[in-house]
Amino acid sequence: MRIALYPGSFDPPTHGHLSIIQRGLRIFDGLTVAVLRNPAKDSLFTVEERVSLLREAVKDDPRIQLKTFTGLLVKFAQQEGVNTVLRGLRAVSDFEYEFQMANMNRKLDREIETLFMMTGEDYFYISSRFVRDVARLGGDVAGLVPPNVQKALEQKFPQKR
Ligand code: PNS
Repeated sequence: MRIALYPGSFDPPTHGHLSIIQRGLRIFDGLTVAVLRNPAKDSLFTVEERVSLLREAVKDDPRIQLKTFTGLLVKFAQQEGVNTVLRGLRAVSDFEYEFQMANMNRKLDREIETLFMMTGEDYFYISSRFVRDVARLGGDVAGLVPPNVQKALEQKFPQKR
């Protein structure tokens, strides 16, 4: 069984994330989607909310495991016995950060390989940060996020509707 770790903040999960998950499953037998629990970062959704939004969005696919992690990604990968990290790459602007992160992770653990998938052409402009901003300012997020996330965003920002 080839399993990869797909880590991220997922605050909130977007169609871009879901597309990488579905396409990742064409290459890997299973994916462990790992939601970072980062107390230093202000998030819109709690980690528990993000995990349950992801769970609803992937519809209990048995090939997908949802987990949370704190601290170093490489340590979590070691605990899980997984040595491949999957990341989506949207545009040139993502490259530098991802390049640094992949190399830092490999420096920390030579066994860790990071695999990048180019985000689909329909999703390359979507980021969780912009989705949060658009929702906060009363814009329409349909088509950017799955319906359950859209509903959760509407509940977070009811005054804007
Ligand atoms: O969705 P994001 O915010 O781009 O995901 C970033 C994430 C969670 C993959 C990254 O911040 C991470 O792995 N954090 C854990 C801390 C860590 O391992 N840092 C050292 C590598 S730079």
